[in-house]
Amino acid sequence: MEIVHLSDIHLFSLEGLSLSELFTKRLLGILNWYRKRGRLMDHALLARVAERIALKAPDQICVTGDLTHLGRVPEFRMAERFLEGLSGYGEVTVVPGNHDFYIEKSRLNMERALGGRFNLPGRLPDFRLAAKEPALAGLFPVYFRRGRAAFFSVCTAFACAPHLAVGAVGAGQLKGLRNMLQDARQQGLFRIVLMHHPPVAGLTRPRRQLVDQADFLDAVIQEGCELILFGHIHYRHSSTLEHRWGRALVLSAPALCSTARQHRRRGGYYRISISGKAGKWHVAVEDHILSRHGGDFDRQRGFSLEL
Ligand SMILES: [Fe+2]
Ligand SMILES: [Fe+2]
Repeated sequence: MEIVHLSDIHLFSLEGLSLSELFTKRLLGILNWYRKRGRLMDHALLARVAERIALKAPDQICVTGDLTHLGRVPEFRMAERFLEGLSGYGEVTVVPGNHDFYIEKSRLNMERALGGRFNLPGRLPDFRLAAKEPALAGLFPVYFRRGRAAFFSVCTAFACAPHLAVGAVGAGQLKGLRNMLQDARQQGLFRIVLMHHPPVAGLTRPRRQLVDQADFLDAVIQEGCELILFGHIHYRHSSTLEHRWGRALVLSAPALCSTARQHRRRGGYYRISISGKAGKWHVAVEDHILSRHGGDFDRQRGFSLEL
């Protein structure tokens, strides 16, 4: 079983921008793009990413959110084209990021553009509404299986106030996740949680973290899982998390197209190979990083571990 993990594409477009859009949180996003983030993103690399992935088709391609920067219609159109291209080489799964739900309208734009595809439910709920409507909470986590691996897509995104980039799992979704993790453990499956925000403390500032991180961690510690893939922090991180049933690898991908010089922030994606069986899993992580002169990705050695 081989997985490609990529994250935080931040596709950006001001096509058809109306004046009224400038009176929303989006103005901050636009300023942030021109001041900082946009200068470090090279979206021309997306074509190369697709070519690279096509060289050796994986079983599953996981995209952990922030497909777009402002959650605008033309940005989701670009994202759709990229994802459709990728889906020719492997099944694609998407979880929403906070930038995809940037303002309330963004969430609806994503729902219209991508809902019901790429393993997303037809409706993309706002977790604050889901707290009152149990039917909405039931839309996530999305569960699916590939061979001996079980995937759980967790939605942590919601339209938060300007200057905030927080996320939340919410009680309803967490309850579903606990049950699903337990069930998959009893079946001896390799359990993979996909989410946008970091699941563990200390990786980002409070205004950017998961507000119910402690509750999420408690669920993982009680029920266990083998791998957690996430994004949001825009740098490479790997660590292990001890739980009642063993330990999980906790892994973040950088912003896919980042041209940042610093090694851990430089763009790229992972290829992750999983083999073995319950109690004796072997996981090998290969890091594909943007080459020094740009334009292509170099394969770096990475690491492997037993879980
Ligand atoms: Fe991001
Ligand atoms: Fe994010």
